Amino acid sequence: MSDTEIESSELPDDAVDPEPQRNDVELSVDGLVKRFGGITAVDGASFEVESGAMTGLIGPNGAGKSTTFHCITGIHRPDAGTVRFQGRDITGIRPYECADYGLVRTFQIAREMANMTVLENLMLPAQNQLGEQLWRSVLPFARQEVEREERELLERVWEVLEFFEIEHIAEEKAGNLSGGQRKLLEMARALMIEPEMLLLDEPFAGVNPTLEHKLLDHIHELREEGYTFLIVEHDMDLIMENCERVIVMHQGSVLAEGAPETITSNEQVIEAYLGGEV
Ligand SMILES: Nc1ncnc2c1ncn2[C@@H]1O[C@H](COP(=O)(O)OP(=O)(O)OP(=O)(O)O)[C@@H](O)[C@H]1O
Ligand SMILES: [Mg+2]
Repeated sequence: MSDTEIESSELPDDAVDPEPQRNDVELSVDGLVKRFGGITAVDGASFEVESGAMTGLIGPNGAGKSTTFHCITGIHRPDAGTVRFQGRDITGIRPYECADYGLVRTFQIAREMANMTVLENLMLPAQNQLGEQLWRSVLPFARQEVEREERELLERVWEVLEFFEIEHIAEEKAGNLSGGQRKLLEMARALMIEPEMLLLDEPFAGVNPTLEHKLLDHIHELREEGYTFLIVEHDMDLIMENCERVIVMHQGSVLAEGAPETITSNEQVIEAYLGGEV
């Protein structure tokens, strides 16, 4: 796992134990249901994600993949089912609580961030995490600590910039980046939170092949460090070549789950793809 530079004592008081017990299942989703009016977007989905593995979540358009991600990370509150992360029930978690648990999804760089530099964009998530503690800066004895935190934050920013080899665009406005560079920044922002698991929803969309390879190399490198990945992606070959396990969703539930080779030969999966809009 990555070095922890933001110490546990600096987490908010209601933060969970930063050293939870590890087990082989990083994330488990059981009987997840999410309805929007008459549409059942997620209809009893159940699956498990192994710790330290790269798992692909695939399925035709509208299968419920993004909605599942949103239910896991608290954007949507599920109508039924449970979500467990590292053995803890996190069902109905608030989006801002996810980071404290070590669970992070990538965010698109919002329009209001476009005028900020890459460096400023990277400072933001961790600063939000330190959040209200800044009030301590008014106390003389705490000021030094706040300054130390800010120094460490900046060190972390440069570490992440170096990791993604984007130091040269540190002062560039996010709005001026190419599609691929923007994806790198989105991943870099997620890493600033020092997560244990990353949920990536179509991280390669609009990325040219060269940058796609680079991004994949970074993901593999992070996986070797112990990070867990769950990736939604439409490029089947990419998923089959890079993921140890694949989960197939169809009409809101899980159709098949297993090693890539078992998935490609699964008749139900073939039918779901050929019978759908693909
Ligand atoms: N906020 C929402 N309000 C109403 N319906 C929604 C909402 N979000 C998703 N849906 C519907 O739920 C279903 C599942 O959508 P979802 O975005 O989860 O699919 P997906 O598997 O991510 O598809 P894609 O591969 O196209 O991204 C679709 O029918 C979609 O129209
Ligand atoms: Mg989607």
